[in-house]
Amino acid sequence: MAVNMKGKSLISIHDLTLEEVYEIFDVAKTLKEKLLTGEPHRLLEGKTLGMIFSKPSTRTRISFETGIFQLGGIGMYFGANDLQLKKSESVADTARVLSRYLSGIMIRTFDHQDVIDLAKYGSIPVINGLTDLLHPCQVLTDLFTILEKRRVLKGLKLAYIGDGNNMAHSLLNGCSKVGMDISIASPSGYKPLAEIVSNAKANANYMGSKVEILDDPVAAVKGADIIYTDVWASMGQEQEAADRKKKFMSYQVNDQLVKNAKDDYLFMHCLPAHRGDEVTNEVCDSPNSVIFDEAENRLHVQKAIMALVM
Ligand code: CP
Ligand code: NVA
Repeated sequence: MAVNMKGKSLISIHDLTLEEVYEIFDVAKTLKEKLLTGEPHRLLEGKTLGMIFSKPSTRTRISFETGIFQLGGIGMYFGANDLQLKKSESVADTARVLSRYLSGIMIRTFDHQDVIDLAKYGSIPVINGLTDLLHPCQVLTDLFTILEKRRVLKGLKLAYIGDGNNMAHSLLNGCSKVGMDISIASPSGYKPLAEIVSNAKANANYMGSKVEILDDPVAAVKGADIIYTDVWASMGQEQEAADRKKKFMSYQVNDQLVKNAKDDYLFMHCLPAHRGDEVTNEVCDSPNSVIFDEAENRLHVQKAIMALVM
């Protein structure tokens, strides 16, 4: 392996070098081929991954658990009420204790700071499986999927339509890192965080690409190679769903909107999709849609991440 990532945590794409991002893609491609041809790849024989989930999950849980098993290790699932964590024990002490048992931790939670602290106080790699702020494993997978479909990343344009949420933030980090243009269209009050936008602009400047934060979805989608969207109300925001639905309705990705993109645009969504809200069935199920390839690739990319850091 050209780049040594052993022991490193994966909390944000912003912390990775470009070489590390491409190392993850190279290893993911190799592991995907090995799985498809039935070649054993037990790179983490006897290792243990603790998987902490304070929010629900289909893809993240199953792809990590299957992935660690295929690599020869074992995954242990801990739901919201299974640990002493943040009830009778601090994040710091939990990190110190888990580091005495496990080879790595994957965590999905609300507060991004908890993931940072877990890595800070523990001595094993921590993988961010989604926080309110970021979803790096998803976006690394999305970029890997685009690379598979288009053979190149630099110079492509991704349009993200919708909430300036964890997906928007990680897409800003990821696209700017690899030199893709990114245009985000969100209603006012729901734009991505200024600090993440400004980091992305600095990265994009270095890579010779562009970051645009717009109001108008049509302008964002103009000439796009990829159209991306996500739910209007994320996990933990369920009580805002009705109000958000009114504010976001003109941001729906539908047959009318996608006409502004390149003819061979890719439609992407991290899933779960709320069909009829942020995206129509027609777009979700169109030949341009690669949503299930994205979902599958979570397995291969996260296996690569685990193999590299654990
Ligand atoms: N995309 C994603 O992370 O899906 P889950 O919430 O099902 O894990
Ligand atoms: N923004 C969504 C992503 C789900 C994968 C959420 O946080 O619920």
